[in-house]
Amino acid sequence: MGALTGKVALITGGGTGIGKGIAERFAREGMTLAVAGLDQAKNSATQYYGRNLGGYTAAKQVAAAIGNGAIALEADVTNSADVQAMVAETAKRLGRVDVMVNCAGVITARPIAEMTEDEWDSIMDVNAKGTFLTNQATVAQMRKQGDGGRIINIASVAGKFGTATLTHYCASKFAVVGFTNALAKEVAREAITVNCICPGIVATQMWVLLNTSFANPGETPEQVYARAIDRYIPQGVEQTVADMADMAVFLATAPHVTGQAYNVDGGMDL
Ligand SMILES: NC(=O)c1ccc[n+]([C@@H]2O[C@H](COP(=O)([O-])OP(=O)(O)OC[C@H]3O[C@@H](n4cnc5c(N)ncnc54)[C@H](O)[C@@H]3O)[C@@H](O)[C@H]2O)c1
Repeated sequence: MGALTGKVALITGGGTGIGKGIAERFAREGMTLAVAGLDQAKNSATQYYGRNLGGYTAAKQVAAAIGNGAIALEADVTNSADVQAMVAETAKRLGRVDVMVNCAGVITARPIAEMTEDEWDSIMDVNAKGTFLTNQATVAQMRKQGDGGRIINIASVAGKFGTATLTHYCASKFAVVGFTNALAKEVAREAITVNCICPGIVATQMWVLLNTSFANPGETPEQVYARAIDRYIPQGVEQTVADMADMAVFLATAPHVTGQAYNVDGGMDL
């Protein structure tokens, strides 16, 4: 039996990409999973998929494939009532919440002159406000349980340095890193740890958008992706969802690591 066997994890954005990879890895560690997602987005931050995110449909598929009592939940992380219901439902059906991974996130790319207020708000809503709401509801549940817990926020290397055309996204991810460090101190005496993972470049649906947005004239999406890796990553290779899951397992177990933001980025410290 490993350290995580029998523990309950709730993962937002758990139906796709990095969240899905962490959900599958946690299940292999013997955890019981609540996989949360959202199908119809209410704001415009998701224009790279359209408003139909398909995240809940994907979460249901991931939960079914994992089995072992895994459940799927629909929640918009920008909506306080949804988030509170998501945490309450996890506690009701699975008994408790030991680990919460806040992986829901959105991106667009836009020069500052073309950035609309709505686009700014919608990116900040999901990435920054979503972090506040999910962490707040999780802390309340962990306090009820009274025996600590682990919160893992998925920030980004964009929470450590700026990238042109990502002012809104970088601001939102810097916010996640700062929020995490502050909350960690607030709950430190309650054995609740709060940390971030800062991924570098991982081939998820986010890069479907970026491969178009960052393209030079005539470049294919594959060429854009290869250029980004070559330009930004000293190791010269992309990171994988498995890399993120390794760090998530570490942070889900480590009792005395808190307030930190760990890059998993192949050395990408611009
Ligand atoms: N892929 C990368 O290279 C990379 C790099 C750094 C950071 N990240 C971060 O990793 C996290 C996961 O992204 P990913 O790359 O797996 O892409 P992804 O698009 O597969 O995952 C994002 C998830 O968030 C969900 N989501 C969006 N808006 C939501 C809302 N309002 N409520 C609930 N769920 C919502 C989406 O449905 C999706 O499941 C994000 O926070 C992203 O910013 C990704």
